[in-house]
Amino acid sequence: MTRILGIETSCDETSASVVVGAGDDVAVQSLVILSQDIHRVFGGVVPEIASRAHLTSIAPVVERALDEASTTLADLDAIAVTNGPGLVGALLVGVCFAKGLGLARRIPVIGVHHMEGHLFATALEHPDAVPPFAGLLISGGHTLLLDVEAWDRYTLLGATRDDAAGEAFDKVAKLLGLPYPGGPHIERLAREGNPTRFRFSRPMLRSNARVDDDDYYDLSFSGLKTAVMQAARGVNLDGARADIARGFQDALIETLTEKVARAVKARGRRRVVLGGGVACNRSLVAYMREALAPMQVEVFAPSPRLAADNAAMIARAGLFHFERGERSPLDLSAYATLPLPGLVAA
Ligand code: KG4
Ligand code: ZN
Repeated sequence: MTRILGIETSCDETSASVVVGAGDDVAVQSLVILSQDIHRVFGGVVPEIASRAHLTSIAPVVERALDEASTTLADLDAIAVTNGPGLVGALLVGVCFAKGLGLARRIPVIGVHHMEGHLFATALEHPDAVPPFAGLLISGGHTLLLDVEAWDRYTLLGATRDDAAGEAFDKVAKLLGLPYPGGPHIERLAREGNPTRFRFSRPMLRSNARVDDDDYYDLSFSGLKTAVMQAARGVNLDGARADIARGFQDALIETLTEKVARAVKARGRRRVVLGGGVACNRSLVAYMREALAPMQVEVFAPSPRLAADNAAMIARAGLFHFERGERSPLDLSAYATLPLPGLVAA
């Protein structure tokens, strides 16, 4: 059994968690997530404010995670910390804290890729959300479609060419005068919306696309966002907000589902694992489940707590790397962009 403390500070959540286990049998003993609400006032995350907030919260958040797990630093086998991609100033707080703690208490430190964390999150709740599977990571900063043959053997099938899925939700929400982050607001409004009033074209879904084409798996949401902007300009928003939200969300959900369907078909997978904040969207999960059921494909989605940024997923990914004997050197740094580890050629 291995006990790992996870630390996540890549964006606007200060989070710490203790997980314990071996192989794919890992339990979350504690998970503390402190969200920085202050960014709502600015309509987006302000990097310096995020860094400063992490700095004041990190020590109490880690202490609380250890307390809730009824454990101490002496019981830890390793500290896993997100070291990219993300806001560098925010990441540095977690990385420096982890390195200081590790050095002082002689605990190994392991740097974890934030998106690999999202890939592991669902496995903490569903024993079957393990490789092989098709993975769709949909967050505020990234949109990645991966074939996961094994942990650490990832084929990048497709990615967004412009906005991330969560970013599209946030930008459309702003256009409609909704608060940040916009995803949950759009989802709520879309439920009351008329699905036929606004039919936006589905991006990157040519029916004659072939598996070798560049756009077969890739995604793009900026055109959809522009179409929404034009629709919003031409109407009285108060009478159309829910209908536009519905039209936008339907286009996005159908596009993501078709790309995932292409991936499971081409790679012969029977499982789909979702991750990232947009995986909180229940309409998306329900639509994808129904669409893929006839292909005997099961769709696994994390609970909202594990879908959004959290340190349990970082500890879980860290545990995998720890078991393989990996350790990060003391000069571990933080990176705004960082290639996903374990990528193999298609
Ligand atoms: O993974 P995450 O918590 O942070 C990043 O690493 O980016 O994702 C945040 C994104 C935001 O863009 C937010 O609007 C979106 O997830 N989101 C949702 C929903 N809940 C959060 N998008 C659609 N529907 C939701 N219910
Ligand atoms: Zn994230």
